[in-house]
Amino acid sequence: MQIERLSDALGAEVTGIDLTSIDVTTFEDIRAAFLEYQLLVFRDQHLSPDAHIAFSERFGPIETRPDRPFTLPGYPEVSVLSNRVVDGEPVGVISAGDFWHTDLSFSEIPCRATFLHALEVAEEGGDTEWSNIYMAYDTLSDDMKERITDLKGIHVFDRRRNRRAQVDQQFVEKADKVYGIPISDAVHPVVRHHPETGRKSLYISPRFVVGIEGMDDQEAQPLLDALFEHQIRPEFRYCHKWKKGDLLMWDNPCLIHIGRGEIKPPGIRHMHRTMVLGDRPH
Ligand code: OGA
Ligand code: MN
Repeated sequence: MQIERLSDALGAEVTGIDLTSIDVTTFEDIRAAFLEYQLLVFRDQHLSPDAHIAFSERFGPIETRPDRPFTLPGYPEVSVLSNRVVDGEPVGVISAGDFWHTDLSFSEIPCRATFLHALEVAEEGGDTEWSNIYMAYDTLSDDMKERITDLKGIHVFDRRRNRRAQVDQQFVEKADKVYGIPISDAVHPVVRHHPETGRKSLYISPRFVVGIEGMDDQEAQPLLDALFEHQIRPEFRYCHKWKKGDLLMWDNPCLIHIGRGEIKPPGIRHMHRTMVLGDRPH
């Protein structure tokens, strides 16, 4: 197994490995690399849904939600991300993650790691970009660190309640069905401690955080705007151009990410995703 850093900010490419057959030592090496680089890119993987689930499950319990749109038939653990349309109907979520976010932060127990496998990629478009929120926290001024140290962000699933996000084109007509589901808001520390490294991250994002608990919007919104802008400074970021067979896993407590979309027709981007749960942010 070879590991090569992908950018100064985050990410490493792992080669010489088949994720369907890894021994205990290799698994420990992967875990260590995951903590060191936050995002791992495994090239040329051929994973059935069962193998994809089996690898993911080694890192935690897989999240399933009965009302999640576009899971793979027979596999509630696997979501389909795709821009393919069959008989006028999309077969997957077309623009998952089109605003900067960290997965499932609207939940009391958010996602620890996401596993996204590229089965088909378009020639142009469909990149995904990550930003390192350990670095975002570390580079704040001492005054700002002090100011936000005990603050809590209000994380909201419903895009209609977030002036920084728009409802996906795909779901405009079904907004009540997709966003009206009974998911309560979650309140998480703005400064989160990573469950394994203990390092602090700036755990907010424009897609999910709409306010600060106990702070009026006149003060909270400009503060959030400044922090959101800081979070995505170019030097914290890595942008991935997908290849068919890529399996990427990323560490949500210390990264935010965005799907860049803009797939050039007639390109088809078709992916399978699992997410495993982690700790209650503290
Ligand atoms: C996700 C996500 C972005 C993309 O799957 O959680 O944000 O580019 N995906 O598909
Ligand atoms: Mn996401």
